[in-house]
Amino acid sequence: MKRVLIATEKPFAPSAMEQIKGVLANAGYEVKLLEKYASKSDLLEAVKDVHAIIVRSDIVDREVLDVAKELKIVVRAGAGFDNLDLAACTEKGVVAMNTPGQNSNAVAELAIGMMVFMARSNFKGGPGTELKGKTVGVYGCGNIGRRVARISQGFGMRVIALDPCVTKISMDPYDVTVVQSIAELFSKSEYLSLHIPLNEKTKNSVNFELMNRMPKGATLVNTARKEVIDEDGLKKMLEERPDFKYISDIIPSCHDELAAKYELRYYSTPKKQGAETSEANVNAGVAAAEQIVAFFENNDQTYRVNK
Ligand code: 3PG
Repeated sequence: MKRVLIATEKPFAPSAMEQIKGVLANAGYEVKLLEKYASKSDLLEAVKDVHAIIVRSDIVDREVLDVAKELKIVVRAGAGFDNLDLAACTEKGVVAMNTPGQNSNAVAELAIGMMVFMARSNFKGGPGTELKGKTVGVYGCGNIGRRVARISQGFGMRVIALDPCVTKISMDPYDVTVVQSIAELFSKSEYLSLHIPLNEKTKNSVNFELMNRMPKGATLVNTARKEVIDEDGLKKMLEERPDFKYISDIIPSCHDELAAKYELRYYSTPKKQGAETSEANVNAGVAAAEQIVAFFENNDQTYRVNK
C-alpha cells in the first residue's frame, strides 16, 4: 500500500484536508499527517516510511531526502518550488512536482488588496488615492502575474509587464504592453507587483538601482519571495525616497526597523497569506493528491519540475 505524508507547517484548511484525504483514500492509499510541526526532526521522523510527500513551503532538502528511503515523489502544493532541493531529488530518483496555477487567484487578489491598502493610507483614516488611471507593472508573467493584470484592468489601471525568465510572453487576451527592459518596467510603474520565482538569477535582483527608477509616490508590492529583494537597497530606498512605499506578504529580515521607522510607507503581513484561502488550499491540495495518484497509477509526470 502506498503511504502519502502531508507535511504542512502551515496546514491546509479543513475543507481542503477532507478532499485531499478523499482523493488518496479512493486510490487505496494510506495518509500520514504532520501539521504545524515544531522542528525539523519531526519531519525527518515522519518521512522515513512514506512513498510520497505533499508539502507547502516546507523545506525538502538533502537531509530530508537522505532519510526518506522509500520516497518516489514529492509535490509542492503551490507554485514556487524553491523549497525543494531539485538536484538532490534527481540524484535520489525522486520526482518533484508543483501544482501551477492552483493558488494563483488567491495571491493575485492579495496583491491587488495590498495596492488598495497602501493607496488608502493603510486603512487608518487618512486621505488616499485611487488605483484607476495608474500604471501597474507586472514583473513575472506566469499564472499570478496574468491574473493581476486582468484584475488591475478591472480597476481601470494601465498594465505593463515583463518576465525575467522568458523572452516571448503570451499575455493574450490581455491588453498589456510588454516593455523592453526591467529598467523600463520599473521606471514606468506607479505600482509594481512582483511575481518572479526565486532562483539564482532573481535572488537580490530587486536592488536600489531598480527601485530608485520608480516614479514619485510609487508602491512596490511583494507577494513573491523575500529573497528577491536586496534588503540593504530597500532600506536605502525608504530612507532616501520619502515618497516610496513597500508592502510585502513575506516578512523581511529588517522588518522591525522598517515597521518602527515607516508606519504608513511599509507594511508586512505577519505570516505569508497569499495562498491562504480555502479555495486555493482545495485547488492546490487536491491537485497535489491527484498528481500523486496519476504518477503511481499511470507514471504521469506532467508537472515534474526536476530533470
Ligand atoms: C506558492 O509558491 O505557491 C505560494 O507562495 C504559496 O505558498 P504557501 O503554500 O506556503 O502559502
